[in-house]
Amino acid sequence: MEQYAIKGGNPLVGDVEIGGAKNAALPILAASIMTDETVYIDNMPDVRDTNVLLDAMGSIGIMVKRPDRHKVVLNAGNVNSLVVDDESLKKIRASYYFLGAFLAKYKHAEVVLPGGCDIGFRAIDQHIKGFRALGAVVTIEHGLIKAHADRLVGSHIYMDGVSVGATINVMMAATLAEGVTIIENSAKEPHVVDLANFLNSMGANIKGAGTDVIRIKGVQKLHSTEYTIIPDQIEAGTFMFAAAVTKGDVTVKNVIPKHLESITAKLLEIGCEVEEIDDCIRVVASKPLIHTHVKTLPYPGFPTDMQPQITVALALSKGTSIVTETIFENRFKYVDELTRMGANIKVEGTTAIIDGVEKYTGASISAPDLRAGAALVIAALAAEGTSTVDDIRYIQRGYEDFHLKLQNLGAQIELVQTEKDFQKFKLKIG
Ligand code: EPZ
Repeated sequence: MEQYAIKGGNPLVGDVEIGGAKNAALPILAASIMTDETVYIDNMPDVRDTNVLLDAMGSIGIMVKRPDRHKVVLNAGNVNSLVVDDESLKKIRASYYFLGAFLAKYKHAEVVLPGGCDIGFRAIDQHIKGFRALGAVVTIEHGLIKAHADRLVGSHIYMDGVSVGATINVMMAATLAEGVTIIENSAKEPHVVDLANFLNSMGANIKGAGTDVIRIKGVQKLHSTEYTIIPDQIEAGTFMFAAAVTKGDVTVKNVIPKHLESITAKLLEIGCEVEEIDDCIRVVASKPLIHTHVKTLPYPGFPTDMQPQITVALALSKGTSIVTETIFENRFKYVDELTRMGANIKVEGTTAIIDGVEKYTGASISAPDLRAGAALVIAALAAEGTSTVDDIRYIQRGYEDFHLKLQNLGAQIELVQTEKDFQKFKLKIG
């Protein structure tokens, strides 16, 4: 079983190139089904979630070519099934983006009920509400969500809660509907805007993405495009916090600093220096970290996908910090693992009360989900002694070459398969 072996204590120093945003890539891949013409996508992250989606697309007759690791060419002119029930898709949340894309183009979709990280109950009522408002009949049978419409007609939809997935799905379906759709209380995340830009580059008419009201004027057909995916806000934020936690000096390159404002603000509050240089951000942690409070919120608030990483930093910060999770109900599962490394954290419902400690100590820990897994790796990089991190398949869902990028910054981390590999690692690091 693959795991990371880590010897902590080295400050991370240097530059790291940030890849394309996983959570933009997933809906963009699904949306490329919406034209029969060929679509060229650049800056595609080579991570497990995008690869699972691409495999599923290949299995229903979509032509998928990979001219290089970060480029994908797709043609959905010969789709042979509107039923997407690939077993592996159950594991990824984004499988539900096939619903919006298929419903838009074929007025019919059958997709396996989504899985994804186990971070709490993840409803899909707002997706269904949106599809129904456009005229679809939606049912759940035998583990599949089925959506069918004779015609899709634009509608005025008020989302009861801010949902990235529901905003994206309804936006896709409305793109090829008749008339105008208005989505109120829509999500404003950078990946929602990236999908709107991608669809517009194919001939869609979407305005207001990035605000809480999106207006979509349906068009009859979409066409070919060449599109470059935005940089990954969460990958960048993870490396920025890795710099803070290891007392390092890291420059994240190829980022959009605007997308990182809430993360930058918190790093400044806890005593880091943050410098913005064009499409790079440098984080220097030369002073002891200090406590702060943080609440996760939809964009432009502090992202829930950065909650474990900031908690790892606050647990090493002087004083008492409070972290409140408002998006998902079960996103503190990693706290038990962090406690085994010496953290002093009490979780009450959706709040974590953190008393900063001087240091972590290495331990054998498991990644409970994607972002928590990355956060635990960062904790191990700051810890005294050696750690192993299991279940790294979660981390590989969303971070490309995570350990290699960390090695480039001076981290002592290796991917090991066996106990023998681990002993070799220990001998090597001394
Ligand atoms: C997306 O999930 C991301 N996943 C998640 O990233 C991210 O944590 C989340 O947005 C919030 O930013 C992808 O983009 C593939 P939501 P999504 O719909 O779309 C409730 C990662 O680590 N809700 O915005 O599933 C829901 O229960 C992953 O990369 C409803 O009540 O999130 C949750 O409490 C993990 N009804 C809240 O809204 C609905 O119909 C936000 O969920 C839909 C959602």
